[in-house]
Amino acid sequence: MNLLEENQATDLEQMVGLTRRRFIGAGALCGAAMFLGGNLLTRSALAAGVSAASNSPLLGFASIAASTRDTLTLPPGYTASVLISWGQPLHQDGPAFDPSGNGTAKAQEQQFGDNNDGMSLFAFPDDDTRALLAINNEYTNYRYLFAHGGMPQSAEEVHKAQASEGVSVIEVKRQGDTWQFVQGSRYNRRIHGNTPIRLSGPAAGHDWLKTSADTSGQHVLGTFQNCANGMTPWGTYLTCEENFTDCFGSSNPQQAFDAGQKRYGVVAASKEINWHQYDPRFDIAKHPNELNRHGWVVEIDPFDPQSIPVKRTALGRFKHENAALAQTRDGRAVVYMGDDERGEFIYKFISRDTINHQDPKANKDLLDHGTLYVAIFDAGDGNTDHPKGKGQWVELSFGKNAIDASSGFTSQAEVLIHARLAASVVKATRMDRPEWIVVSPTDGQVYCTLTNNTKRGEDGQPVGGPNPRENNLYGQILRWKANADDHGASDFTWDLFVVAGNPGVHAGSPKGGSSTITPQNMFNSPDGLGFDQAGRLWILTDGDYSNSGDFAGMGNNQMLCADPNTGEIRRFMVGPVACEVTGISFSPDQKTLFVGIQHPGDTGDSTFPEHLPNAKPRSSVMAIRREDGGIVGA
Ligand code: FEO
Ligand code: CA
Ligand code: CA
Repeated sequence: MNLLEENQATDLEQMVGLTRRRFIGAGALCGAAMFLGGNLLTRSALAAGVSAASNSPLLGFASIAASTRDTLTLPPGYTASVLISWGQPLHQDGPAFDPSGNGTAKAQEQQFGDNNDGMSLFAFPDDDTRALLAINNEYTNYRYLFAHGGMPQSAEEVHKAQASEGVSVIEVKRQGDTWQFVQGSRYNRRIHGNTPIRLSGPAAGHDWLKTSADTSGQHVLGTFQNCANGMTPWGTYLTCEENFTDCFGSSNPQQAFDAGQKRYGVVAASKEINWHQYDPRFDIAKHPNELNRHGWVVEIDPFDPQSIPVKRTALGRFKHENAALAQTRDGRAVVYMGDDERGEFIYKFISRDTINHQDPKANKDLLDHGTLYVAIFDAGDGNTDHPKGKGQWVELSFGKNAIDASSGFTSQAEVLIHARLAASVVKATRMDRPEWIVVSPTDGQVYCTLTNNTKRGEDGQPVGGPNPRENNLYGQILRWKANADDHGASDFTWDLFVVAGNPGVHAGSPKGGSSTITPQNMFNSPDGLGFDQAGRLWILTDGDYSNSGDFAGMGNNQMLCADPNTGEIRRFMVGPVACEVTGISFSPDQKTLFVGIQHPGDTGDSTFPEHLPNAKPRSSVMAIRREDGGIVGA
């Protein structure tokens, strides 16, 4: 950016600040009506000198330039507003956000959670201006949660941290062209680290899930580290527990860990989280089985605020990223799931029974009975630009495929609790950190981000197949097609839709990425994915935003949009400083795109979204629309 553009940006950002203050002065306190300046966004996109030249019938916007500015940047003709931000009160007369960090745990339990991640929109069947959004709150940033800016120093502070995670269910309403959060809706709800939750399915009640507080092994407190999500055809929300082991520790510095605990990565003292020091439930030395009660997919009925969420053990326990629903040709539910850790696996669950599309409530136990599979990929054809190959799903059932006493298992409950160990028995393919999985609404192909993997090429993780690069800095997007287009099939073909890279720094593959990657659309660490109804593939990044070295020219984290048929990728949005872009959903008419900005100012240097002097950065859900009222992306 040259000096002139810098000055223009400053002036425009001041205008945005004024806009915000006017709204506050007018009593619009929800933040829902905060416009981040179509003018500003238009100006920045025009400054990039980009064109909308296209050979894609799907992509109708001009790709924008990378940016390192502390704002949301969009193509010309698009505008954004804040739907909701961390700490906003959900209920009438609820405690207001306290930027000092001195707010209580009880207040946080009644406010929008922190670090929003995956989300799903549930339209009201009889009113297309109303919907519920179920939104994950993945973790919290102690720098902003507490006035002292460090790890919790009391039981109350641990409680507050637990209250900031989980899920927020909110009602949203269309008013004119924009969608706004409905404070005080009877549907608004927080599910957090201490909410009563039921365990169900084959592992519920197993000895390994019993604790002194719950001798039944069926009633657990809380869900936390809720990464991404899924939405069932019967109208429920799936929230996925990812880095749950980080929340546990041990008061015994010499704590010995068994094979299962080691494989899931628990340590005596996490560098990030110290809950066990003030909440004995998280102390492995005192309550070793509590760890086994987390790492599941949790099902929530957003339309019943009194409902008890359910952890579905049949889907297996690992560091769940998201849950992508599909259907077999004979009508059973399929759930595709990734385990986000270097060298971990991709799974598929198929329900025993068929989905009842006439009576949604008849599916309330559908995810309790079924079969879990894990993916094995072949070495592929070795093509560096666009490799492809074949793969198969291998069943993880006790008594099959050498998953039995010979490999240390005595029941299906153990297989599910230690799904990683069972998947290793069948020699599943170790992947480059599986993140989101989505299923194309137009052709049923399945896409999965493999975000990066600095350990590829070492540690028993051979280079090849869908993981083609040693020390994989940039990531790739894997795609597979079920045999005969039946998600129930046990085999499939695969290809890499795109291999990310930096052609500005590295010429050609492997580090320059696929031929569809250019200096104008490059990105690293694809993570979130979303399809709109027309079949546009939206790609959200959680990568290195240093804009230097191997990442020079890539700027802040961003959202891109791809045409799955032509492979063309355009940059649609750039997030503010130090954020991750994660969580995506669309209004029923496809004219508003909801996208999450997570942990802006992670490193302490953002005022997003208020952009007022010294404002605390706040994770937020943004509503993006076209100024002409058209379909987003078209
Ligand atoms: Fe929560 Fe793997 O991202
Ligand atoms: Ca993610
Ligand atoms: Ca990530």
